[in-house]
Amino acid sequence: MEDVVIKVRENGPYLVTGRVRLIDADGNPYTVQENFVLCRCGGSVLKPFCDGSHRENGFCAEQRATPQE
Ligand code: FES
Repeated sequence: MEDVVIKVRENGPYLVTGRVRLIDADGNPYTVQENFVLCRCGGSVLKPFCDGSHRENGFCAEQRATPQE
């Protein structure tokens, strides 16, 4: 199994890299490539995918992961 990475983009979407299945609320699969972006701002008209609206709607999320000790 290949690694899947989900990177939180600065004030933007989640960048998903790797082979994954993305399933809707009814259990139906979306067609996705090995790299795609998921909306985090709530403004996309293409949810669950990012359509770039975060650049226009002032979305700001600067949280960072807490380092593990
Ligand atoms: S994060 Fe890009 S449109 Fe929402």
